[in-house]
Amino acid sequence: MQITGEQTFTPLITAFCCNWCSYAGADLAGTSRLAYPAEVRIIKVPCSCRINPLFVLRAFQKGADGVIICGCHPGDCHYIMGNYYARRRMTLLFSLLDFMGIERGRTHLEWVSAAEGAKFAATMSGFAENIHKLGKNRRLEDLRCKSS
Ligand code: FES
Repeated sequence: MQITGEQTFTPLITAFCCNWCSYAGADLAGTSRLAYPAEVRIIKVPCSCRINPLFVLRAFQKGADGVIICGCHPGDCHYIMGNYYARRRMTLLFSLLDFMGIERGRTHLEWVSAAEGAKFAATMSGFAENIHKLGKNRRLEDLRCKSS
């Protein structure tokens, strides 16, 4: 938690995890009692290629301070090519966000297998630490999404 002025900053981090590897990796982190920040909210998707770039924009609109996408390692995707498509899409989206002034550190793509609970916990902790450093994201936030 970062103290800014008189307010404390608790970031909201959205993590999209594919069902077959990354979500299982998160599960393993949990069952292995490996701690990762509570501000990470996981959204399970069938495959990383299911993540429409609009999901990322919507997450920022709804107040996310960082968005991380996790999928199977290249060559291990349950749907053969899904993570390759996701990688291409997200590379394009991340550079577009960069162009729009969203700091590069607010988005991340990581491959985490079902056996990598420790990597999942470490990745989430590292990403959350970066978001703490960057502070609140206000660029794409849609104030209409706020419940007063
Ligand atoms: Fe995991 Fe496709 S099923 S990235």
